[in-house]
Amino acid sequence: VETPTPLTIGFLGGTGPQGRGLGLRMAQAGHRVLLGSRDAQRAAAVVEELAEVVGGLAGDVLGVGNEQACADADVVFVVLPYDGQAELLEQVAGHCAGKVVVNCVNALAFDKRGAVPVAVEAGSAAEECAALLPGARVSSAFHDISAVRLQRLEEPVEADVLICGDDDEANQLVVHLAGQIDGMRGVLAGPLRLSATIEAFTAVLIGVNRRYKTHASVRVVGV
Ligand SMILES: NC(=O)c1ccc[n+]([C@@H]2O[C@H](COP(=O)([O-])OP(=O)(O)OC[C@H]3O[C@@H](n4cnc5c(N)ncnc54)[C@H](OP(=O)(O)O)[C@@H]3O)[C@@H](O)[C@H]2O)c1
Repeated sequence: VETPTPLTIGFLGGTGPQGRGLGLRMAQAGHRVLLGSRDAQRAAAVVEELAEVVGGLAGDVLGVGNEQACADADVVFVVLPYDGQAELLEQVAGHCAGKVVVNCVNALAFDKRGAVPVAVEAGSAAEECAALLPGARVSSAFHDISAVRLQRLEEPVEADVLICGDDDEANQLVVHLAGQIDGMRGVLAGPLRLSATIEAFTAVLIGVNRRYKTHASVRVVGV
């Protein structure tokens, strides 16, 4: 996978906190960002709102429909709630073949006690994504990175991103993108089948966040 800068990076479900946070950081790194939504007008309104919040975006950020966010992108980020993933990916699969797809979806459910992993037939949200997108080069990453911290553009995001996937070049591209976020490092964790563990571990981080009222992240020592 070549890493021309700027890349055009599309976000499926990009109007939520995770899409906004990663989108802003990728724009800061000089990429062209397409924040996708089921409603292109809503996406455009979110981008206007973001431009006010950050006082002018460092890069080129556009709000578009989800289909355009895939069709026009070099790299696609999936930042949807798990519940909405299957239906939406089926609609856009034709635009994702051959592309690097970064799945950030956690298969988690929430109740008053916090987050808990949900069983996924495919193994994990990321493996389900790979099964729904034939020919896409799926890498699983950013599951364990707080959207709140991503959106605080003036602060570094001190974190190691655990990345897994079966396509080495796609994984390397994600390491490169993670490294473009101030304070962040990508750590390669193994094949896509490990995504279930990473997604489930996010429930543990959410437990830490609730207990300590913070936005915790992981550092891997010895690497
Ligand atoms: N928030 C975090 O700190 C964080 C951190 C790491 C990973 N994640 C993971 O990243 C993903 C996104 O998180 P988020 O907090 O940004 O989620 P979110 O706000 O719940 O959803 C993101 C966007 O997805 C779209 N959407 C919602 N339901 C949908 C459905 N049924 N079908 C299609 N689109 C739908 C919505 O956009 P439109 O209404 O504009 O279409 C929404 O703005 C989740 O899987 C989460 O586990 C989140």
